[in-house]
This record gives sequence, structure tokens and C-alpha cells, in this order.
Amino acid sequence: MTRTDSQLPSGFPLSRGRRNRYRATRREMFAEHRLHPSDFIAPLFLAEGKGVQDPIPSMPDYHRLSLDLAVRKAASWHEMGIPAVLLFAMVPEEKKDNEGTEALNPDGLMQIAVKRIKDAVPGLTVMTDVALDPYSSYGHDGIVRDGEIVNDESVDVLARMAVSHARAGADYVAPSDMMDGRIGEIRRALEADGHAQTGILAYSAKYASGFYGPFRDALDSAPGFGDKKTYQMDPANVREAVREAQMDEAEGADIVMVKPGLPYLDVVRAVREAVHVPVAVYNVSGEYAMIKAAAQMGWLDEEAAMLESLLACKRAGADVIATYWAEKAVALLNNT
Ligand code: PBG
Repeated sequence: MTRTDSQLPSGFPLSRGRRNRYRATRREMFAEHRLHPSDFIAPLFLAEGKGVQDPIPSMPDYHRLSLDLAVRKAASWHEMGIPAVLLFAMVPEEKKDNEGTEALNPDGLMQIAVKRIKDAVPGLTVMTDVALDPYSSYGHDGIVRDGEIVNDESVDVLARMAVSHARAGADYVAPSDMMDGRIGEIRRALEADGHAQTGILAYSAKYASGFYGPFRDALDSAPGFGDKKTYQMDPANVREAVREAQMDEAEGADIVMVKPGLPYLDVVRAVREAVHVPVAVYNVSGEYAMIKAAAQMGWLDEEAAMLESLLACKRAGADVIATYWAEKAVALLNNT
């Protein structure tokens, strides 16, 4: 005999959703997603000098660190169980130009930092930002010719920049520039230089977003003219993000990333369903600043809003999360 729909135990009071939420033990058992220390990538801002710990006003509790302090920070993050750091270098004005010269300097701040951190903390995965904006006199991610950000010439420099990071010992290079074809070119350049094991974390769907402001303060890297809309993506688009991620996967990306995070969780989900490599999400500076500012006003509970944001990234399908909250979140996770 087949049961009819009305005989299925589907309605109230047979079904009460609250039963499984009634005790903490049950909620813990039935949580569909969880945060774990291994979910996090911690961004690290490097500055020249010694003993430097510069606060970034628009990113409360975050600092630019000179190498000595950056190495100590990296070691303490590793000890807590944070698996990876993502390095960004703050470049003094006099070293900026339109060709990315300093970006290729084997003794540049980034390259030395990679060496020093890998020497001191070999077990920590070191990822490096590959883009010209902190090195560019125009604050753009590529080379500028006649007011345009030129693609292929930029890709050439970015591939050389990636190789110089790999030579220094980077585990992953992370191109954040959004030039066309750079993943394939970087992959080929890495192979040709003997870095078969160096991975690529591709910023595949990076949007032209209003949420990067505090980061640009941190690195003094705001675009000198125009905006980044000819290379970063239009916030209106999701199919295009899937296409970008699939192209990067085909070109050899080991991880694809969506950025920013919270306003783009639908994109994270779509990308997760369209590729087979791990998906990262970048919970960016503006997302961090908003919650920090509201918490400082007493308008939001920082810890609750932070953990909820990070969990939402995982629920959307992210495997790893780059976030300025890595240290705070992992400290909380370790204590519970
Ligand atoms: C630049 C870069 C940016 C971020 C990471 N790499 C800013 C930009 O594109 O202007 C933003 C990160 C953040 O806001 O936290 N290549």
C-alpha cells in the first residue's frame, strides 16, 4: 500500500523544528557548517624599518609591521594554528614607478619577508600578493600607457613578479590584478623557472568594490586617476564571475577566490558549484571596518558579528577565508 501525502509525518505538532535546537548539545550535533582554525588566511601588511608597528586608522587593531615584528607575528599565528599568511608590502613613494621595477627587486621588502618568514616558520604557508598597485606611481594594478591599464605588458611584469616571489620561497602567489590571461602566463613562468610546487591563489572574481577603502589607506595604494572598473568586475554580474573562475581553473589556478565576501556570497555559491578547485573568499577591509566601527559605537557586538560573518562565508561554500579577524577568531575557537 502506498502512503498518501497526508499520512507523512510532515506537519505540526509531529514536526517541531525547535526540538533539534532545544539544547546546546543538539545544536552542536546538527550544525551544518563549522569554523575551524584551518579555515583562515591572515593578511599581513609589511612596512620598511625596524620596530615599526603602524596603526591603520580605518582598520582598528590592525597594523603595518616591519620585518622583525612581522616574523614574530607570523610565528605566533602559526603557533595558534593559523595555516597561512597573505603578504602585502607598503612601498615608499620614491620606489614607485609605472613599470613595477621595485616589485621585481630580489632584495625588495616582499622578497626578503618571504625568505625571513619561511626560515623562521617553515610550517606556515606563505602567500604573496601579486599586483602592481602598491608599487605603481599611478596606484593601478597594471602598467599605464596613455591613460589605459594595458593588459599584456602588465601580465608580463606580473609573471616576473610571481617568479621572484617563488624564488624567495613563496608557497602560493596570489595575483589580485584581474588582467586577462595572467594565471596561465604565471603558471608557465613558474614551471619554466623550476617552481612546479608553487601554487596560484587566483583572485578570479574580484569586484570593483567600494569596500577596499581601508586597505588602500593601509598601503597608500589608492588609484591616482580614474577607478579600477576596466579590470575589476562589475558588481552587477555573477555569470561573468563563474566564467572568470572557470578560465582561471583551466589556466592552472590551484585556488580561486571571490572578493569581497559578505556582499558577494551568492557569487561564492555559484563559483563553488562551477569549479573543482578550492574556493577562497576575501572578507575585505571595508567589511572589517564596518563591524569595528559599529562595535566601537556600541551598536554591534563585535565577536558575534564577526563569527556570524565568517560562518556565513563557509555556508556559502568557501573552503578558506582571508580575513583581518583570523587571529581573533582563531583565539576564540581555541578557547571554546
Ligand atoms: C590590490 C588589492 C586590493 C585588495 C587586495 N589587493 C585593493 C584594490 O584592488 O584596490 C583589497 C583588500 C581589502 O580591502 O581588504 N591589488
